[in-house]
Amino acid sequence: MDPILDKLGRPIRDLRISVTDRCNFRCTYCMPKEIFGDDYVFLPKSELLSFEEMERFARLFASLGVKKLRLTGGEPLMRRGLPDLIDKLTKIDGIEDIGLTTNGVLLGQYAQALYDAGLRRLNMSLDALDPDIFGEMNGRGIKPDLILKNIDRAKEIGFTIKVNMVVKKGVNESEILPMAAYFKERDITLRYIEFMDVGNDNGWSFESVVTKKEIYERLAAEYEMQTSEEEYFGEVAKRYRYVGTDAEVGFITSVSESFCSSCTRARLSSDGKLYTCLFASEGFDLRELIRSGLTDEELLAAITGVWERRADRYSDERTEQTVKNRKKINMSYIGG
Ligand SMILES: C[S@@+](CC[C@H](N)C(=O)[O-])C[C@H]1O[C@@H](n2cnc3c(N)ncnc32)[C@H](O)[C@@H]1O
Ligand code: SF4
Repeated sequence: MDPILDKLGRPIRDLRISVTDRCNFRCTYCMPKEIFGDDYVFLPKSELLSFEEMERFARLFASLGVKKLRLTGGEPLMRRGLPDLIDKLTKIDGIEDIGLTTNGVLLGQYAQALYDAGLRRLNMSLDALDPDIFGEMNGRGIKPDLILKNIDRAKEIGFTIKVNMVVKKGVNESEILPMAAYFKERDITLRYIEFMDVGNDNGWSFESVVTKKEIYERLAAEYEMQTSEEEYFGEVAKRYRYVGTDAEVGFITSVSESFCSSCTRARLSSDGKLYTCLFASEGFDLRELIRSGLTDEELLAAITGVWERRADRYSDERTEQTVKNRKKINMSYIGG
């Protein structure tokens, strides 16, 4: 099948599947506990896509050009039986790469089973080494030791690991250098993520963002760094290598240097809605279609139609006004 292109000429290459909207953390920038409290109503199981439905969608997306899958959430390891899904996905023709994004709390339990099922890449989120800062940011008082131990364990098993750190002004800026030193020494790529205005609940403002430029300057005062080549079209992180080592550091600059022009990602929420932008307000209900008995051809036509109508470039267009006026979906629902 010919690759499909959206209105701005962008192919579809990546599919992110959110496998649950639940999480065992309450990160202040994602699921603040004031909003996601004890009485918050999550999706019932019957509304979540089944693993069979996810597998079928992944196969259909692969036939349209998707090569990379990423499982995310909520916290994906809270979905029971995740290794079974990995096993199904690794068998799909055309899928070259599968990754999982996790906060790592449950990884000690599942790492080996995930590896045995064929998963090789993990993105782990960790915002600080300082126990008080991290405990405060994850909203649950969880200490970094547990995550660091699980990172070591996953590395021993053989996973390729990247660590994601969201940087918030006045909250964990002091952790920029300690985190760099810790992961450089272990040859694990650390990626600094600019705090983004996803959802409507995380109190975002331009002032709360620490930009790539600011972070880079702090690192450059300490280390000699060299730009690394882009590995593929649509690569999101800007990467640098510490000179004289193999260790790299990356930046996800969705706010200060948007990358909409090369965005090749589609996102499937845990209840089967297709989103063509992280900052979208509306998704296209694929679950209804799959459950109403459509054939593969009919589903493909629907997905193709959505992609061919895609013209999103929210980050390119972001201003004080769009931030205020646009209703966005939550990151914990769509998966980042
Ligand atoms: C929504 S989480 C889902 C997967 C998993 N629970 C985790 O935290 O790794 C995916 C990624 O989005 C990031 N994220 C969440 N909210 C964000 C925000 N407002 N700005 C930037 N990154 C955010 C998280 O730090 C995490 O690395
Ligand atoms: S960033 Fe990940 S770990 Fe934190 S609340 Fe969101 S989904 Fe949970």
